[in-house]
Amino acid sequence: MKRPFIAGNWKMFKTCPEALNLVQTIKAGVYKTTDCQIVLCPPYTALGALHAILQDSSIELGAQNMHPETEGAFTGEISPVMLKDAGCRYVILGHSERRQFFQETDTFVNEKVKTALKYSLIPILCIGETLDQRNARQQFEVVKAQFEQSLKDITKEDIARVVLAYEPVWAIGTGKTATPEQAEQMHSYIRRLIKEQFGDDTASRVSILYGGSVKPDNIGELMKKPNVDGALVGGASLKAESFVQIVLNACACVEAEARK
Ligand code: 13P
Repeated sequence: MKRPFIAGNWKMFKTCPEALNLVQTIKAGVYKTTDCQIVLCPPYTALGALHAILQDSSIELGAQNMHPETEGAFTGEISPVMLKDAGCRYVILGHSERRQFFQETDTFVNEKVKTALKYSLIPILCIGETLDQRNARQQFEVVKAQFEQSLKDITKEDIARVVLAYEPVWAIGTGKTATPEQAEQMHSYIRRLIKEQFGDDTASRVSILYGGSVKPDNIGELMKKPNVDGALVGGASLKAESFVQIVLNACACVEAEARK
């Protein structure tokens, strides 16, 4: 039975008091859930406070970005060492908003993936096509290029520690989710790419998350798909009620599938 992996990307939302309030309610809501890997990625300013509050919980902490250098004159940036220090185990890399608004390239993302792994941070590497690219039927070549370039020179041992997130840009914050079939088609394609490069065993160990307008009422159908291991949730992770319900529905769906 697969263990759902549900991560919340809070983006640039929540002050510290708001973040504490949210995490306390989430913690209480998922208290009895042991069969789900939950990761919360708040803004940097809330990392320390969340780390303290999550000490007695299985919920893990992640950051939303990082610089590939360990230290230096990079005003406004944050290093992997600092994220470890703040209690992070995960870091989102290559999010489409970073690519779109901050001109991040696959080469830069690749540097980040390598440093993250070096400092024992687990990258949640985001890849996905834009609407124009999908309309031009280029989604597979776009995702393949992002996959190959962002993971250039990554070893077989290291890829097993990477979490991949397929986030079609047209589904992010738009309320327009990829259908479970569209998600499965791309997830199985990504799984095949891993298999071709790193072998069957490694491919089966890598979690592939879906991201883009995930809600309590669509997570079940997505999780039923064999290559969808979980979700990277944006908007719906900002309210405890919807995030907790996504976690519970994902677990219930996986259990029901296993009983079949
Ligand atoms: P939404 O769930 O708001 O569409 O955001 C998805 C996302 O970008 C997660 O990283």
